[in-house]
Formats: sequence, structure tokens, C-alpha cells
Amino acid sequence: MDSLFDVAEGGENREERLAELARQVSVCTRCDLALNRTNTVFGTGDPYSPLMLVGEGPGENEDATGLPFVGRAGKLLDDILKAVNLTRDDVYLTNTVKCRAAQPEGGRMKNRPPRAGEINACNIYLAGQREAIRPRIILCLGGPAAKTIIDKDFRITKDRGKWYEVGGALAMATFHPAYVLRQRDDDLVRAKRAVWKDVQAVYAEYQKALEARG
Ligand code: URA
Ligand code: SF4
Repeated sequence: MDSLFDVAEGGENREERLAELARQVSVCTRCDLALNRTNTVFGTGDPYSPLMLVGEGPGENEDATGLPFVGRAGKLLDDILKAVNLTRDDVYLTNTVKCRAAQPEGGRMKNRPPRAGEINACNIYLAGQREAIRPRIILCLGGPAAKTIIDKDFRITKDRGKWYEVGGALAMATFHPAYVLRQRDDDLVRAKRAVWKDVQAVYAEYQKALEARG
């Protein structure tokens, strides 16, 4: 049993380790994203899943609710998971940064990609989540997650869909759902096809991991 093993090893279970990390995140001021956040967005799902999904960072909707992937990109993510009969409850879902990155534009705050310094500052929490959960498979959603988890020079268009060994896990990156949503016509068809292909490969490894666990 994973939970008994964890109790023997570290005196606490995964839920408790994650709850403690989430508590630290909720009061974190390690980077300037702390200044404008409404809520931190730590992560959701099954801490015993063999599959962790890592997105970029919270947007406006996530900042408002404290939950990852609740906007349009989240709806597409649900459809992608559904294509292989998974729901977000079957996986653990988090992001490279736990606070919304935004900048003023035309009188309101617009989402922007997190900066390398922000991702680096926040990586202690993502590393903590990876240590607590020890997922067999990590699916990076988009370039920032892939650069954080797989290789700093990762090129999403060239290297997506490939498997990498990273610290005891198998990692792959695919296009971010928000990127897919920005494509039109042939580009949209191509991007969707690529993501669907990638998620099938991920699902095959997910099944293997479940079988190996018995
Ligand atoms: N995009 C992300 O990368 N993460 C979220 O949580 C929501 C949108
Ligand atoms: Fe802390 Fe991460 Fe939020 Fe920056 S993004 S304040 S490092 S929790």
C-alpha cells in the first residue's frame, strides 16, 4: 500500500505532504506573481495516479477559483482526456507556476506567459509535488512545462510526442490546449491530430503503469 509505505518512510502520507505544500504556496512571496493574485492554484486530482499533467500557469478563471484549467482550455483538456476514457479525477493536474501571470493592457489585466525567473522561483513546489506523488508518467502541456521538466532547450514543435526519462519518470510534451484553440483551419486539424496521437501514447503507458502496480 502506497500510503502505509509513505507512513513508514516519512511519517506522513501523500495527501498530508501535498496539503503542507499547498499551505506554503498559499502564503508564498517567492516571486512578484504573489502581488496581484486572488487565489493560488496548487493542483487537483489523484495523488496516487501514475500520471501527472503539468500546464503553464493559472489564468484569470483559475485565479478567480483557485482551480487549474477551469476556462476554455480546461474544457478542451477534458475532451482530450475523454478521448482516452480518462477524467481529470484519474490524473494529478498542476502547473509550472501557482499564481496568475498578467500584465495591464487596454485598462485591464491580461494573462501573459510566466517568466523564466517566476517558473524557477516556483519550481520548489512543483518538485515537491513530484517527490510526493512520484508519477510514472508526466505529460507536459506546452513549452514552459516541457522546458521546466524535460530540457531547458526543449522545442515543442520539434520534440513533442517523444518520450524522455526524467528522474525515474517517463515524460512527454504535447501542445497546450490554449495553443490548439488559437489555431485555425489546417493548422487546427494538425494540432488536434498531434495532441490526440500523443494522448493515446500516454494512455498506453498509463495502462502499463496500472498493470505493473497490480
Ligand atoms: N492554462 C494553464 O496552463 N493552466 C491552467 O491551469 C489553466 C490554463
Ligand atoms: Fe510563490 Fe509560485 Fe506564486 Fe511565485 S508563482 S509567488 S513562487 S507560489
